Amino acid sequence: MAERSEGPRAEAERLREQIDRHNQLYYVFDQPEISDAEYDALMRRLEALERAHPELRTPDSPTQRVGAAPSEKFGVVVHRRPMLSLANAMDAAEMAEFDARIKRFLKSDEEIEYVGEVKLDGLAVELVYEDGRLVVGSTRGDGVNGEDVTANIRTIRSIPLRLIKPARRAMPKLLEVRGEVIFPRRAFERLNAERVRAGEAPFANPRNAAAGSLRQLDPKITAARPLDIFVHSPGAMEGIEFASQWDFLQGVKTLGLRVNPLSRRCAGGGAVLDYWNELSERRHELDYEADGIVAKVDSFALQERLGEVSRSPRWAVAYKFKAQQAETRVRAIEVQVGRIGSLTPVAKLEPVALAGVTISNASLHNLDEIRRKDIRERDAVLIERAGDVIPYVVRVTKKGHPRADEFTMPRKCPECGGAIVHEEGEVAYFCVNANCPARMRESIRHFASKLALDIDGLGDKIVAQLVERGLVRELDDIYRLTAEQVAGLERMAAKSAANLIAAIERSRHTTLDRVINGLGIRHVGEHTARQLALRLRTLEALMRASEEELLAVRDIGGEVARSIREYFAEPRNRRAVERLAAMLEIAPVAEPAAGRAALRDKTFVLTGALETMTREAAEQRILAAGGRVTASVSRKTDFVVAGAEPGSKLRKAAELGVRTLDEAQFLKLIEGEA
Ligand code: IVH
Repeated sequence: MAERSEGPRAEAERLREQIDRHNQLYYVFDQPEISDAEYDALMRRLEALERAHPELRTPDSPTQRVGAAPSEKFGVVVHRRPMLSLANAMDAAEMAEFDARIKRFLKSDEEIEYVGEVKLDGLAVELVYEDGRLVVGSTRGDGVNGEDVTANIRTIRSIPLRLIKPARRAMPKLLEVRGEVIFPRRAFERLNAERVRAGEAPFANPRNAAAGSLRQLDPKITAARPLDIFVHSPGAMEGIEFASQWDFLQGVKTLGLRVNPLSRRCAGGGAVLDYWNELSERRHELDYEADGIVAKVDSFALQERLGEVSRSPRWAVAYKFKAQQAETRVRAIEVQVGRIGSLTPVAKLEPVALAGVTISNASLHNLDEIRRKDIRERDAVLIERAGDVIPYVVRVTKKGHPRADEFTMPRKCPECGGAIVHEEGEVAYFCVNANCPARMRESIRHFASKLALDIDGLGDKIVAQLVERGLVRELDDIYRLTAEQVAGLERMAAKSAANLIAAIERSRHTTLDRVINGLGIRHVGEHTARQLALRLRTLEALMRASEEELLAVRDIGGEVARSIREYFAEPRNRRAVERLAAMLEIAPVAEPAAGRAALRDKTFVLTGALETMTREAAEQRILAAGGRVTASVSRKTDFVVAGAEPGSKLRKAAELGVRTLDEAQFLKLIEGEA
């Protein structure tokens, strides 16, 4: 609220400062001091003030993160200082050679001070701050000319729109920093799962997801993606100086920029190798992709003397981690038909062990990718798993003999024989037969999945039979199934038939977000479904909603709104939804604030595998109860839920005295018995 004798201008400025500070505490330092609700209240107050006094609205106001309208294309930004790339060291011997070369060059017998940093696998960007205000954000481009992605950069919460003024010093006149925009791994898995459910092609890896998100023409889409940043190098500067890389990292951190906490000063080449070894072990604990380390000579004076060769600095080197790779053979390339009819080529592999699991499939993503890598049946291929991501084919290691023909997309749907449509210039191929059994199977599977109608026991084999026998042609047919029909399926005992019918019955009482998610509208996954349900309250309202109304829903951009309109413009879909609605008892979605008091605004961190539910389901339960889930443990964490084989988070919880719950305790709490 306004403080006494404070005019609107002063109040707006005070609110902006408070919000900036809490934003930084939350996103940059991971140490929030107020609850989300308190934060929201500050934001709402500022929004109201700015609405009442539009002249008080400043471009760097926290209300203006998603301000810009979608653009046609990105402008060009010329980097004042070129953005260089890094030379690679392939092994420890090359690392030793790097260190020796530097000593030779500097004619030094003493150990060189290095800074060891994580090499982040994201997208390089440059941020330009003038008088402490973010004025430009750009991609690296070719190192000299980048793309102007300022509107998108501004939506990243861990990037301050204004720097914190240094104590006893002026705000730097110019500060350019370079960093890596990353897509956190867990959020990536969630996004991909959602994309697959929404019938879209998944991103191949978090790096592509980061690049794809940052290069959206509509900043609203970028804003809905949980991008993050670590700043790692300086660009041009005026009115501020640093003596070394380490100084730089510490200095920009006090200005409110996020730097990677794992960076370390290393006294000599040996210490850098230790750093590499340690991080090689720990890389899987990180919530982002790291593909190696970077060693940088610490002193800027020495960096200057060392200079650069062929667009790489002589004072830095990247030393990649060993990839988790294996070689195997492609048995066949098959095409899978997704829910909305999209065709995805999949490599069927000779099973091979990789990082503790047996791999027999690898997604080939799309035809372009297959062509680029020229992958054919019978070829020997190198496959790789980056973190927890589904394996992919890196390259062909040995051509098959005799060489198979180049793979082509089928002209007819492999499932129904229907026509395949491919739009010029698009990568995707679609089966457009709405009655295609493959599409129906995928629709049912999606409809029955955990975060949709959650019908237990409706597994792949059963779904396939239900569709094949014509027992389910539309989603509402599921609710007309009888125990006799189900018991008549292959490998179905009377008991399991009864269980399935009971599960179907239970699912009739459901919530609007689950139904919307279950419909499987393109681009509408669980998160979007929830936002729609919160805002529109009923299925009828969703069916009637205009594009503008849809665009007013949080996190919904043009593409999603259009897709929803297209879906309901189809009479067949409208009829199907109406029939389905008649079968269900749909409750509106409760606002998070209406959650159980014990969990409202409580922060949870999950670690290790739970037995009774997936991580996603656990998160869903917490969110539904008004709590929230964060990736790392801090003083502000209320509970750490530890499943099997918990990671370092449990240790951290113990250190900070955060309460930990085992699975049973967590279930009790969430079910309201604690
Ligand atoms: S320093 C001249 N530090 O790797 C110094 N780069 O091949 C170059 N990268 O384009 C940047 N993590 O996007 C630096 N800790 C780190 C990095 C890092 C990832 C990327 C960066 C650059 C590429 C160089």
